[in-house]
Amino acid sequence: MIDRQRALQHESLQAVDAAYRRTALCGTLGKTQVGETVTIVGWVHRRRDLGGLIFIEVRDRSGIVQAVFNPQTDAAAYQVADQMRLEYVVAVSGVLVARDPQTYNPHLPTGEVEVRGTDAVIVSRSKPLPFGIDDDLNIDETVRLRYRYLDLRRPTMHESIVLRAKAMKYVRDFLTQHDFVEIETPLLTRSTPEGARDFLVPSRLQPGSFYALPQSPQLLKQILMISGFERYFQIVRCFRDEDLRADRQPEFTQIDIETSFLSQQALMDLMEAMIAGLFESVGGIHCERPFVRLTWDEAMNRYGSDKPDLRFELPLTDVTSIVSQSAFQVFAKVAQQGGRVMGLRVPQGARLTRSEMDDLTAHAATYGAKGLAWIAWQSDGPHSPILKFFTQQEQKDLFGALGAQEGDLLLFVADQRRIAQTALGQVRLKLGQQLGLIDEHLYRFAWITDFPMFEYNDEEKRWEAEHHPFTAPREEDLPYLESAPERVRAKAYDMVLNGYEIGGGSQRIYDPSVQERIFARIGLTPEEAHDKFGFLVEALQYGAPPHGGIAFGFDRLLMLLAGKENIREVIAFPKTASGADPLTGAPAPVDEKQLRELRLQLRRT
Ligand code: AMO
Ligand code: AMP
Repeated sequence: MIDRQRALQHESLQAVDAAYRRTALCGTLGKTQVGETVTIVGWVHRRRDLGGLIFIEVRDRSGIVQAVFNPQTDAAAYQVADQMRLEYVVAVSGVLVARDPQTYNPHLPTGEVEVRGTDAVIVSRSKPLPFGIDDDLNIDETVRLRYRYLDLRRPTMHESIVLRAKAMKYVRDFLTQHDFVEIETPLLTRSTPEGARDFLVPSRLQPGSFYALPQSPQLLKQILMISGFERYFQIVRCFRDEDLRADRQPEFTQIDIETSFLSQQALMDLMEAMIAGLFESVGGIHCERPFVRLTWDEAMNRYGSDKPDLRFELPLTDVTSIVSQSAFQVFAKVAQQGGRVMGLRVPQGARLTRSEMDDLTAHAATYGAKGLAWIAWQSDGPHSPILKFFTQQEQKDLFGALGAQEGDLLLFVADQRRIAQTALGQVRLKLGQQLGLIDEHLYRFAWITDFPMFEYNDEEKRWEAEHHPFTAPREEDLPYLESAPERVRAKAYDMVLNGYEIGGGSQRIYDPSVQERIFARIGLTPEEAHDKFGFLVEALQYGAPPHGGIAFGFDRLLMLLAGKENIREVIAFPKTASGADPLTGAPAPVDEKQLRELRLQLRRT
């Protein structure tokens, strides 16, 4: 029972704590406890004043239960309840009673019972709220983040954060059971090669020098393999100063893994078991295994993406050879210059309107397409401004290759291979959403393998590592390293889910001479390579085992596991799209004194 006298005399929390004894968690109450006297504590979730009775829904970490106050039978408690406002912290004692079946609340797991409040205390008051704690409210996100403590009170946010903890525990247990050792690596470190901009931390003791926050522990986990740990993992914060999107944060968490003496196949199998186990045990989501495996070439050819959404098919078809001799110059020229003409059959797409077509064309253009050619097969036959350029045979071959039928729309992009595939792949994705082809309940995992080792950077006129420069090339492609780098495939693999890249890794180079050739290929002089990564190259000379690993984007995994559309929904204190934290006000200017200690001066431009 509550000692109300003491609670009211002492405002401090300790006094209140001594004044009541919680006997039950709100969300755990049900018919089996009917008749018991209980004391609950928590926040006022809802309040209703009905025909003389006051109903207070009390929420704690376990859930919500209703308390009812009657002025006739329990006048003192009723008076306290009368003072209660939303989000006050309260304690309520009383007998748990079964509700009249007509008043069951089907939306609450505890909806068949209520606490008949005979005693009540207001423990702590709340100012009027900037927004309601009820779920599914459309609140401006900056306001949510500014008052994140209130936002996190919302039951779905609570669930997401608890889910995150469970997922973390699952992964830790799984990896520990499989002999992985959890090892921490420093946050104050040197620049790592993941290709984003670094966050820098100035050194006070060595003015003019900077630490970089790690973009990933890539180099150190490889060093740990050379140190003989064989199986390393870390659930680790990584930092990348890049433009933010719904699935990106400047600081995010990786499940980071490295192994020695494991084949690529064995590592992929083990990781697949971990991720499928995670989705099943924490999310209750059944995952079809083995995961689909596609080479990068296959994924690009068929879906126009290296992270294809496989919840629907709508495949692309390469029609280059059919149109290469045609009279349609746009296609013929691209084909003759070594580019590709990619086609997409949209079943029943002929009914798309003019403006829908314009949208698709604009969408393709944002991915570099110079146009989006179309043929609409109406009931009176195919229509298109480009049809006249094709011979009967070419038309027949085109329709045959695409499997076209009456009612269909055929779309084409002609360009350099990657542009043609990517632009039409994005059109495929947009159509998948627009035509409702995506089953939101499906979880379609895939591995994408055999990525190209290098990508040509047109602006800087040089080859870059597609993954990172420690990724091993396939042995049979090594002879092309210098002569035809575009042909070199990497022993790299990504795990993809529903159109998101959720993890990526590779087998690493453990031969220092190959490592040096790769550095040279991406235009690093031996001095630059030595300066940046010399410690790794040196370590590779002291008995490096064959090794490889992977890192999963933990926030992305969770976003998908929780069925959310933004990783901010599964991070307790995320940043806004402009990299700010409205709660703490970070980033913020610092004192002149701090700058002076660091020997830093701000430039105007
Ligand atoms: P990679 O750069 O592919 O690989 O990163 C691994 C995974 O991390 C997630 N991720 C992100 N999540 C949220 N916000 C970001 N800004 C962000 N950037 C990446 C993605 C991605 O698949 N060292 C290598 C791994 C290895 O080779 O072992 C690495 O970091 O889900
Ligand atoms: P044009 O001859 O430029 O008027 O183009 C005729 C049709 O072909 C239009 O529908 C254009 O959108 C389309 N088109 C032009 N260039 C390309 C291209 N590179 N790939 C696909 N379609 C194109």
